[in-house]
Amino acid sequence: MTNKTPPSIIALDGPAASGKSTLGRSLADALGYLFFDTGIMYRAITWIAIQHDMNLRDESAITELAQKAQIDIRPPSKTDGRSCDVVIGDRDVTWDMRNAEVDANVSIVSAYPRVRKALSEQQRRIGLRGRVVMVGRDIGTVVLPEAELKIYLDASAEERAKRRFDELIARGEKASYDEILRKVIERDRIDSTRAVAPLRPAADAVIIDSDKMDAGQVLAHVMQLCK
Ligand code: DC
Repeated sequence: MTNKTPPSIIALDGPAASGKSTLGRSLADALGYLFFDTGIMYRAITWIAIQHDMNLRDESAITELAQKAQIDIRPPSKTDGRSCDVVIGDRDVTWDMRNAEVDANVSIVSAYPRVRKALSEQQRRIGLRGRVVMVGRDIGTVVLPEAELKIYLDASAEERAKRRFDELIARGEKASYDEILRKVIERDRIDSTRAVAPLRPAADAVIIDSDKMDAGQVLAHVMQLCK
């Protein structure tokens, strides 16, 4: 095996709860790279819109919000499983953005083409600096098609629902597995059938099915690909 410089731009895509954040974070730590979870931006816009009682079907208003919103990503201030602080105004919304209401509505917001354009441009600007692991749905296909390594991390809907269920229970929240599974399937449907930047692997992506692999095995496999 030859040892060469690891790829500087790594795109990591895949469906909801496939383990992208866990892999992305540990990969970025191992390489000393920036970890950037782009789902945070779509969640933040959705959260602000809900807070302001905006009509989520009002594409123009939501687009305007996405073009103006000041979303701040800072180093983690707490060791509660977060990889960064997400701050809007002076409020820490890191976990609020993962609530069930945002989960249920974020696909509507992320299907709007001009919302995607506004957020993708910011993501691309940050990604092109290099030494980055960028996580999302369209990083390898749209945001950073020049990424030297593209991973598409997949897992069955059942396995992903189980992981999300376990995560919620561990955080002390109430959860129903069947309900989560239904929502995972619905979110997959919306994310993969939207007109703009639908969820799909890039032609040159390495597809990894994590159903029968734990987080350590997936990381070891991807570290091999980096060599
Ligand atoms: O990864 P996540 O569950 O936090 O993503 C939240 C939503 O944002 C999800 O419905 C898909 C969407 N998303 C997207 O369309 N493009 C991205 N690059 C990242 C997330």
